[in-house]
Amino acid sequence: MNASVPLIPDNAPFSPEQRAWLNGFLAGVFSRTLAPVGASSLATPALAPLTILFGSQTGTAEGLAKKMAKEAGKRGFAATVLDMAQTDLAKLAAEKNLLVITSTYGDGEPPDNAKALHAALKAAGDRPLTSVRFSVCSLGDTNYAQFCQCGKDLDAWFERLGATRVTPRTDCDLDYDAPFTAWLDAALNALGVGNVGGGLPSDSDSTSGHVAPPAEEESGYTKKNPFPAPVLTVRNLNGPGSAKEVNHIEFSLEGSGLAYEAGDALGVVPQNCPDLVADILAALGCDGEEAVTTPSGELPLRRALTEYYDLGKPSAELLSVVGGALRPDAASESGHKAPPTLTAQAPHHVIDVLLAAPTKPSPADFVSRLKKIQPRLYSISSSPKAHAGQVHLTVGAVRYEKDGRTRKGVCSTFLAERGLAAGKVGVFVHSNKAFRPPASDDTPMIMVGPGTGIAPFRAFLAERRASGAKGKNWLFFGDQKASADFLYREELTALQSAGTLTRLDLAFSRDQAEKIYVQHRMLEAATELFAWLEQGAHFYVCGDASRMAKDVDVALHQVIEKAGGKSPEATVAYIQSLKTTKRYQRDVY
Ligand SMILES: Cc1cc2nc3c(=O)[nH]c(=O)nc-3n(C[C@H](O)[C@H](O)[C@H](O)COP(=O)(O)OP(=O)(O)OC[C@H]3O[C@@H](n4cnc5c(N)ncnc54)[C@H](O)[C@@H]3O)c2cc1C
Ligand SMILES: NC(=O)c1ccc[n+]([C@@H]2O[C@H](COP(=O)([O-])OP(=O)(O)OC[C@H]3O[C@@H](n4cnc5c(N)ncnc54)[C@H](OP(=O)(O)O)[C@@H]3O)[C@@H](O)[C@H]2O)c1
Ligand SMILES: Cc1cc2nc3c(=O)[nH]c(=O)nc-3n(C[C@H](O)[C@H](O)[C@H](O)COP(=O)(O)O)c2cc1C
Repeated sequence: MNASVPLIPDNAPFSPEQRAWLNGFLAGVFSRTLAPVGASSLATPALAPLTILFGSQTGTAEGLAKKMAKEAGKRGFAATVLDMAQTDLAKLAAEKNLLVITSTYGDGEPPDNAKALHAALKAAGDRPLTSVRFSVCSLGDTNYAQFCQCGKDLDAWFERLGATRVTPRTDCDLDYDAPFTAWLDAALNALGVGNVGGGLPSDSDSTSGHVAPPAEEESGYTKKNPFPAPVLTVRNLNGPGSAKEVNHIEFSLEGSGLAYEAGDALGVVPQNCPDLVADILAALGCDGEEAVTTPSGELPLRRALTEYYDLGKPSAELLSVVGGALRPDAASESGHKAPPTLTAQAPHHVIDVLLAAPTKPSPADFVSRLKKIQPRLYSISSSPKAHAGQVHLTVGAVRYEKDGRTRKGVCSTFLAERGLAAGKVGVFVHSNKAFRPPASDDTPMIMVGPGTGIAPFRAFLAERRASGAKGKNWLFFGDQKASADFLYREELTALQSAGTLTRLDLAFSRDQAEKIYVQHRMLEAATELFAWLEQGAHFYVCGDASRMAKDVDVALHQVIEKAGGKSPEATVAYIQSLKTTKRYQRDVY
């Protein structure tokens, strides 16, 4: 990076502020050729180069990275947003100022676009990053054991490789707005250019400090201000004898101004089950009319528990106060005995803590220790080209038994049991630019989507049919039983007849003694699959992250090795190149 003269000379007919703004604008245009931090004066304004590096699976960190660039620009930085898949250690070594934002996936793993860089940083020796100043913001979810692990790894490795941390790493839970905003403010200040913006304004409210992902800015309806979408349809897709419950849900978006693309997700704001709320009220000894203070003002306790609070995994704050009494020593001191299941392991849900606690908190104390209920994301299963004014989802209901209690997934069963009765449900569009049909209508697509993983591929196929795209389309679908779990059977067979779906390979796991999964079908069709890849096909996977997506990845390696006649090293390089060129995309959960 060369320290060069300002583009607008001192004697030009501009005020210092106008000169600073113009230099900032031109610096962005001419790709960061102005003076680095520390060389600032009114005549030569400080325009520090800044690279914002993102690791993102489903678009949140990518959206925030763009937001960061906007804010950094306002503060006099010439900022560039960089996808982790598009850089390497040598390029990073040439950076001066680096802000990193990344999510974590799997079991503490990096998101797909960060995998190669994560591995390279882990393996690197020496201190190649000594001229880099950096800070890391990690996005994660405290429900996962390896909370924010990818951000923690990168933060440690940047330091080990000689980079200077300008401000401490911040680890954000799902409710990331406040910690992210505070981190960005501190990081930009620490990087050395003045806070010209005077805080961290959002586009809509210059004093709120709220940072919203760009896709949500485009319409008035956002995660913070969801659109109350009329629920048009809730239809069970399984037949008699199924062990599954997958619902097809349709919402109207008429009048919302919300736009989405095939590949995006929909955020849905759920409400807690009234039976669970009643059990919690009983455990607290309350009737639900007690007034409590919530982020939306004073509300009756029953409504607050239904609409505002997460009644799932208990927070550390709740455990530290109410759950403290659950520890064996505390229990014996107080003369009460907590159930053995709770002393032996962490309580599963908030209700378990209350039922086992010897003393009950007051309503105000209780709600002050609950986390906010979070929206859930669902891969959109409709195409706006085929279903104007509507958005469709394919939602598997989560139901299970634990510690002698029937448990229900909050959002999936809210939609299944009370979606239609609710009339309207809060929704917002969550853009996912990393999961898109090919830009060219002629490019072949290979889609692997067992179970609810079919969702985005219903959208991709509807999109291709609506636009008359000529590219070939191959779907691998699987579920338990052909008779009961062949989701969207009529639609898929109609798409086959119409020629949109070129090939459909099915894997029903429980129709025979041995399990047959989608990856077995991939291996059976290895020669044709490799031929499609050689023709430029994009390869997509959607559905279960913990087992299916990993096994499909192994199968893809085997297909390329076997049918492509490649060594293991050449296979890894082939797949890495598919990822770098965005031809291997995953939407897994
Ligand atoms: C980008 C993205 C796209 C997605 N797309 C879809 C989609 O198209 N369709 C779809 O159905 N889902 C999809 N999901 C998943 C969806 O967001 C929700 O996670 C899912 O519906 C469960 O939410 P819930 O509120 O019903 O359950 P929650 O109340 O969140 O409960 C789920 C939790 O319950 C626990 N749990 C579940 N089963 C058991 C068990 N047997 N034993 C012990 N604990 C258990 C686990 O901790 C699990 O995380 C997607 C997720 C993401 C991130
Ligand atoms: N992280 C989250 O927030 C979240 C929330 C909800 C659901 N999920 C995950 O999403 C998945 C989606 O559930 P779903 O009902 O749509 O589908 P699913 O459980 O993935 O089942 C679809 C088909 O995949 C098969 N399968 C099981 N293991 C497999 C493997 N290793 N490789 C390939 N196929 C495999 C199943 O067979 P068998 O059943 O016969 O084994 C079934 O035939 C759930 O399994 C769950 O893990 C995640
Ligand atoms: C399948 C799955 C696995 C996840 N694993 C982790 C994890 O191990 N640790 C963690 O802190 N967060 C985990 N998360 C939460 C994400 O990191 C978090 O939702 C983040 O905001 C997503 O950002 P992104 O959209 O930029 O990828 C996981 C989320 C999903 C859907």
